[in-house]
Amino acid sequence: MIPRILIIAGSDSSGGAGIQADIKTVTVLGGYAATAVTAVTVQDTTGVHAVHPIPAATVAAQMRSVIDDIGVDCVKLGMLGSAEVIAAVADVLAGVDAPVVLDPVMVAKGGATLLDDDAVAALAALLPRAALVTPNTPELAALTGTEIEDEGDALLAAQELVAQGARAVLAKGGHLGGDEVADWLVTRGGHRRFASPRIATPHTHGTGCTLASAIAVGLGRGEALEDAVAEARAYLLGAIEHAPGFGRGHGPLGHDWSLVR
Ligand SMILES: Nc1ncnc2c1ncn2[C@@H]1O[C@H](COP(=O)(O)OP(=O)(O)OP(=O)(O)O)[C@@H](O)[C@H]1O
Ligand SMILES: [Mg+2]
Repeated sequence: MIPRILIIAGSDSSGGAGIQADIKTVTVLGGYAATAVTAVTVQDTTGVHAVHPIPAATVAAQMRSVIDDIGVDCVKLGMLGSAEVIAAVADVLAGVDAPVVLDPVMVAKGGATLLDDDAVAALAALLPRAALVTPNTPELAALTGTEIEDEGDALLAAQELVAQGARAVLAKGGHLGGDEVADWLVTRGGHRRFASPRIATPHTHGTGCTLASAIAVGLGRGEALEDAVAEARAYLLGAIEHAPGFGRGHGPLGHDWSLVR
């Protein structure tokens, strides 16, 4: 079975994050990637230089076209950008059965804002629709109104997000310090810590997009959430280790590492 993944996210001209990272990840992992583009960003490894949003009705129309014709086994939400787009996406998803992985993208690695302030509330309303929400530390802090300084704080905040209605949260630990990177998976049934050695590298552009898309492939195949997370982390670590070293800033990952090297 080839899991059909519908990716709703922004284009990253540098190819390291956003739609481009999502398509590479889904393809390498054996899924079929279709997309609804929410914005065209002018971006390289040093930062986001411009964002050109796509109209909400066009985002929704792309989704409907793909869903009606190709079908969908899992939906991956990345950069949505505005409350209007979030509302349009939520509206289409109301008629869809497939699981949703929601990567609540708010700020790019270089610091550029990718979500309007009034859209944070709209995003919170979308949480219960997602099988999994994958915030990084600043996103988890913004969604819960808490301060997160260590992984203990992150665990508590993830539990708070579940109490607020999320079905499952993967609190990513990339932004916290330490020799280990720890991601907490919190569900209504409990929690599990996924940890690995922190790789010393500047090439982490698109780690969040890659992880969420890899999880979406697993869920699209019908895997259990914990298995999908474990496999996605293993794929991501390989991609970080095999980064090609391009660019002067946060360079892209080596998405093809498991195929050709
Ligand atoms: N240096 C690193 N070594 C190993 N794993 C890492 C490293 N940096 C991030 N990760 C892993 O990458 C994933 C993404 O984490 P991160 O917290 O960086 O997300 P993000 O901020 O959303 O990423 P992005 O900036 O791409 O959106 C997590 O599974 C995290 O553990
Ligand atoms: Mg991210």
